[in-house]
Amino acid sequence: MNRRIYILNGPNLNLLGKRQPEIYGHDTLADVERDCAALGAELGLETALFQSNHEGGIIDRIHEARDQAAGIIINPAAYTHTSVAILDALNAFDGPVLEVHISNVHKRESFRHHSYVSLRADGVIAGFGVQGYTLALRRMATLLA
Ligand code: DQA
Repeated sequence: MNRRIYILNGPNLNLLGKRQPEIYGHDTLADVERDCAALGAELGLETALFQSNHEGGIIDRIHEARDQAAGIIINPAAYTHTSVAILDALNAFDGPVLEVHISNVHKRESFRHHSYVSLRADGVIAGFGVQGYTLALRRMATLLA
């Protein structure tokens, strides 16, 4: 059975660690990638992390996941709140989908309170910092067991 998990990240998350650290913290996306790979090895999951500043780039990875991944962990960043196209792509993926937000979006501006992706996600984590990614990976292992 395919044990590969795609960890997809949307716009500006390439700047993680440098961008608004008071909101998103000091860890970088490379740190997230390393932590997820290490935990994945413990859980018997192979992780593949991608980031794109372009909606189409994220959608292409979701399409690829249809035959390359058993599950998707996604932080769509600002596209969370705008993208019907990402929701449609996730609806064409059969495995578990977990949505992660580093910050607590519900404590922020009202435009961040609505998520298109939540209409598809099997679970949502928000406000746990970058630890949300590894928590989501643990949940993914349970869902795939
Ligand atoms: C985010 C929250 C979004 O509202 C924001 O646009 C981001 C990051 C988060 O991880 O907290 O870029 O998804």
